Amino acid sequence: MLIIEDLEKTYGKVRAVKGLNLAIAQGEFFGLLGPNGAGKSTTVRMLSTLTPPTSGSVSIAGKRMDRNLTEIKRTIGVVPQHNNLDGEMSAWENLELHGRLFGLGKEERRGRIQELLIFTELEERAHDLVRTFSGGMKRKLMIARALMHRPAVLLLDEPTVGLDPAVRRKMWDLLKTLKAEGLTVLLTTHYIEEAEILCDRVGLMHEGRLIELDTPRNLIAKSGTIVLEHFTQGVTTSEFFATREEALSRAASLEGSVNIRPANLEDVFIQLTNRRVSE
Ligand SMILES: Nc1ncnc2c1ncn2[C@@H]1O[C@H](COP(=O)(O)OP(=O)(O)O)[C@@H](O)[C@H]1O
Ligand SMILES: [Mg+2]
Repeated sequence: MLIIEDLEKTYGKVRAVKGLNLAIAQGEFFGLLGPNGAGKSTTVRMLSTLTPPTSGSVSIAGKRMDRNLTEIKRTIGVVPQHNNLDGEMSAWENLELHGRLFGLGKEERRGRIQELLIFTELEERAHDLVRTFSGGMKRKLMIARALMHRPAVLLLDEPTVGLDPAVRRKMWDLLKTLKAEGLTVLLTTHYIEEAEILCDRVGLMHEGRLIELDTPRNLIAKSGTIVLEHFTQGVTTSEFFATREEALSRAASLEGSVNIRPANLEDVFIQLTNRRVSE
């Protein structure tokens, strides 16, 4: 559905994205995970047609981006990292404007706006100015707007950053529903839990490169499913084990405080990036 080949983006001397290769299947929920500055937003901005790649190619639904810009724009829905709604317009008007830009007819616009406001639980605020909305409501409206023209691929850059935990969980349910309906989704996040909960596959990005790519479960299995944390002389070290029994027998030989727990994606990420940094 989405094919990225040797994608590069350079800003002056900064190589924000370095030779990215990636194929995302139809209906897949894919996560680009990485710390700030890893190149996630730059990647999404290129896929969103907002910034041209320095080199490399992108194809979406069989169309190359450099030759079919208009068609590609119809195929994708984009939720950028920063709010770009018009605060002086109502929720309805923001959606209406987007529907017009994409050439939807009057009746179709009305039906789609109603449907999406119900889906995002914003129908009661439909005619209020967006500047009066909470952060979570604005984010949901941005998703509704991205879906107006029924894209096949949804691109979301940090969709839950800055939201409180309860709102974040609601947002996850919204995204899971879209995935269940067959949408292909690519999101970026620096929340490991989010990638673990939502994504079929995760690409770990570090300094402009994809350093690992797999299902969350396989990534965790690769580094070891059990973590033993050992705190001694002011420093915590982590060791990975395939089974709890192995971790326990190791713990028996250690002094100081020891904690044994299941590994998560964060452990994998730290293990990989430490290895990269020291290589
Ligand atoms: N418009 C820009 N001009 C110059 N440098 C940029 C620009 N956008 C991003 N960068 C740089 O590219 C790198 C990757 O940034 P970004 O893609 O925003 O990372 P992420 O979204 O993973 O935090 C950073 O070093 C950032 O400073
Ligand atoms: Mg970013």
